[in-house]
Amino acid sequence: MKNFSYDFYKESADYILEQISEKPKIAIILGSALGSIADLVENKTIVSYRDVPKLLQSTAPSHKGEFIFGRLSDQPVMLMSGRFHHYEGYSYEELAQPVRIMKLLGVETLIITNAAGAVNLDYEVGDVMLIEDQIKIAGHSPMRGPNIEEFGPRFFDCTYIYTPKLLKLAQAKAKELNYDNSVHTGVYYFCPGPNFETPAEIKAIRILGGDAVGMSTVTEALTAAHCEMDVLGISMITNMAAGIEDEEQSGLHVIDVGNKAASKIADLIMEVLKDI
Ligand code: HPA
Repeated sequence: MKNFSYDFYKESADYILEQISEKPKIAIILGSALGSIADLVENKTIVSYRDVPKLLQSTAPSHKGEFIFGRLSDQPVMLMSGRFHHYEGYSYEELAQPVRIMKLLGVETLIITNAAGAVNLDYEVGDVMLIEDQIKIAGHSPMRGPNIEEFGPRFFDCTYIYTPKLLKLAQAKAKELNYDNSVHTGVYYFCPGPNFETPAEIKAIRILGGDAVGMSTVTEALTAAHCEMDVLGISMITNMAAGIEDEEQSGLHVIDVGNKAASKIADLIMEVLKDI
């Protein structure tokens, strides 16, 4: 197993600190098809993943591979345009890396977005789900292996991975924007992919308490919980999960619908940022 020491992460963070003029307070991980928020960033500095020592490289479709630093709603932010997934071949431990780098850059709040399939039958394509909790039964923790005390304790609490005050703020903003009919609050269920789930798995996930299913987010949220960052999670519902409708699942479909509904999430994030 690789030795992910504190210095391993610090080497990446130190390089980035040399490139930027202002430290970010808030980080936003852009999910599939949610890249358009990047266009709204003012005073941009772009740092390509290729140039950052030790950093993983993104291979997923529609994931660009750059950090974007600047201001959004007048807050110092960093955007991660291109995230890493277990299905690309990265281990759960490796997936801790971007969030730990964010921590070393000074980030206090992490906004995680993703594309997800609806398991909850009350949801519709194009809706948004604010994440109140997550289920990750598949695979082990990103915090497996020697603990790095500088980030957090060996055993850590996961009662409130998704920070209740941020969830309430996002719910209030959805109401103000008149989005509340299409903005739900629910549980994100992680499936590692890259296969979509089977109809039988989706039935099981519904019984277990999942409202939406996706292939990302949970390792990032766990890493943030370990180093005590506040977390807001937002899922864009790009499709009904397998077996709900008489239709096959397709990755292209996910990206298509995502592009159409992304502006709703962008509006929500811009509003939330004003009050963090
Ligand atoms: N399953 C898993 N991941 C997804 C889905 C899905 O139905 N839609 C978007 N990401």
